[in-house]
Amino acid sequence: MKPTKRPARPNFSSGPCAKRPGWSVGGLEGAAVGRSHRAKVGKQKLAAVISRSRELLGLPGDYLLGIVPASDTGAVEMVLWSMLGARGVDVLAWESFGSGWVTDVTKQLKVADTRSLVADYGELPDLQQVDFGRDVVFTWNGTTSGVRVPNGAWIPDDREGLTICDATSAVFAMDLPWQKLDAVTWSWQKVMGGEGGHGMLALSPRAVERLESYTPPWPLPKIFRMTKGGKLIDGILRGATINTPSMLCVEDALDGLAWVDEIGGRKVMQERSEANLATITRWVERTDWVDFLAVRPETRSCTSICLQIVDSWFAALSEDEGAAAAKRLVALLEEEGVAYDIASYRAAPSGLRVWGGGTVENADLEALLPWLDWAFEVTRRAG
Ligand SMILES: Cc1ncc(COP(=O)(O)O)c(C=O)c1O
Repeated sequence: MKPTKRPARPNFSSGPCAKRPGWSVGGLEGAAVGRSHRAKVGKQKLAAVISRSRELLGLPGDYLLGIVPASDTGAVEMVLWSMLGARGVDVLAWESFGSGWVTDVTKQLKVADTRSLVADYGELPDLQQVDFGRDVVFTWNGTTSGVRVPNGAWIPDDREGLTICDATSAVFAMDLPWQKLDAVTWSWQKVMGGEGGHGMLALSPRAVERLESYTPPWPLPKIFRMTKGGKLIDGILRGATINTPSMLCVEDALDGLAWVDEIGGRKVMQERSEANLATITRWVERTDWVDFLAVRPETRSCTSICLQIVDSWFAALSEDEGAAAAKRLVALLEEEGVAYDIASYRAAPSGLRVWGGGTVENADLEALLPWLDWAFEVTRRAG
């Protein structure tokens, strides 16, 4: 039977993600548009994004935080290009974005002493194999497989190398052990439901020490350069951005941060996301045709919730037929206006990916689930 109740907001994309509940363009009226980002007003707003993020995330006092170009990718790449090569590197990957960082390290930077620790979709590499005498590059939450590291217990406090963590779909949704992470990146359009284009980069004192004591052998484009004459350009970490940010996006980031504060802070954001995962978990447990892509329950992401179709009809299809059937299912939901952008990532096994970050209302997820059952049934019957 076709359900009757529709999600009030069908936005379940894994980035850009749903705006915060109650968001409207009107909330951006105070934006410093048409003004220089180097004017007092612009600088104040950029500095406010940094200071409010710091407070809400509970960043250690001696960590630095900055706004950098080119979204999360820009933030990760400026770290890889600026810091790697000083010692051996262990780079971990278990889905598409992590694989991208493996490519950067091995094929672009060509760091000779690199070990790639790679696992298939649904799994994690063996974290016990990681050598923290080396620099370690990893993704906290694999957005395209819905597999996250369960915690930071595998990272020693007294490591010699640096830990470089792409945490873009984890920050504001998962507990991050900041003291175990030396360079952490994220963007505004993920858990905060902000706008794309800008990256956030947090640096530990040891990461800053690396920047100031090491010069990589390869050229650094201007947008990656964080030091001048062997000293950190610390203005970058106070809101003096390397190049021009969008003041409209900055205003939207401030709007998102104010909302998080209003609802009770990071902890409430994390609880909202975990509650969304719990809702989907209950449904998966009572539903035969679907399962998590993440094999181990403690690695299941509460943000990018990736699901595979395990029904015997579907399993008998070829890879192409399966991909086409999943595409039809997703298209049906979009036509009904009940779920947008929930196809699995293009390089991931075909299935569904539903965003469960804190800007998604639990009631909307509850309303979505009967539609998933309905769309699966319609797709299966159509063969
Ligand atoms: C884990 C991860 N890393 C990197 C990216 C790329 O982010 P951006 O588009 O912000 O550069 C994404 C985007 O979804 C991601 O999920």
